[in-house]
Amino acid sequence: MSDLVLGGIADGVFLGGYETSASMLALGAYLLAENPEAVRMLRDEPESVDRVVEELLRHLTVVQLAFLRFATRDHELGGQQIKTGDAVGISLLGANRDEKIAVDGDRFDPAREPTRHLAFGHGMHRCVGAELARMELRIALRGLAQRFPDLQVTADRSDLDFRKLSAVYGVEELPVHLYGRDRDVVAAG
Ligand code: HEM
Repeated sequence: MSDLVLGGIADGVFLGGYETSASMLALGAYLLAENPEAVRMLRDEPESVDRVVEELLRHLTVVQLAFLRFATRDHELGGQQIKTGDAVGISLLGANRDEKIAVDGDRFDPAREPTRHLAFGHGMHRCVGAELARMELRIALRGLAQRFPDLQVTADRSDLDFRKLSAVYGVEELPVHLYGRDRDVVAAG
């Protein structure tokens, strides 16, 4: 295996497989802290877990751009002329807010009917880790909601350091209070 191939695999596993899921967990926890109804659904309705997780994936779309595609022929797409060899960058974030995918897509709605969102991309380069990521999110976010239903973010939104330059949207750190059932703070950080 050449260094180049090894580097590509490392990039796929560490950036593709770690940072994406980690960002979904941090930003997902942030949205849950703001949406008690989503926490209630995760905690009390096991059948709602898939729905909440899919809506988090759609709404957050942490991988905002699909991999570049290169046109193999001239054609028109969305009113744009594309020539053979042109690189085409597609905003998955924009697509996931398109009315054809989700009405009022800027709104996080944990009870939203399942959508055909593009958070994992599309076609032959669609995310190979999608099902693993889904399993991780279902288990971790449900566990969080069950154990710490009164989760609170302790920083103002304006003080949070959202990543501006990473290929994966995320937050540098998310200070929270985790309350146990008797509302004692059991962890902060
Ligand atoms: C919530 C978590 C994740 C999100 C949102 C995500 C999203 C994406 C997106 C949007 C693409 C590009 C698809 C395209 O351009 O059509 C992609 C590709 C990829 N992802 Fe993920 N991913 C996640 C988790 C993972 C995990 C857990 C792994 C590995 C264990 C992984 C491995 C990869 C690899 C190797 C590719 C490249 C596939 C190819 O080029 O054929 N991803 N992912």
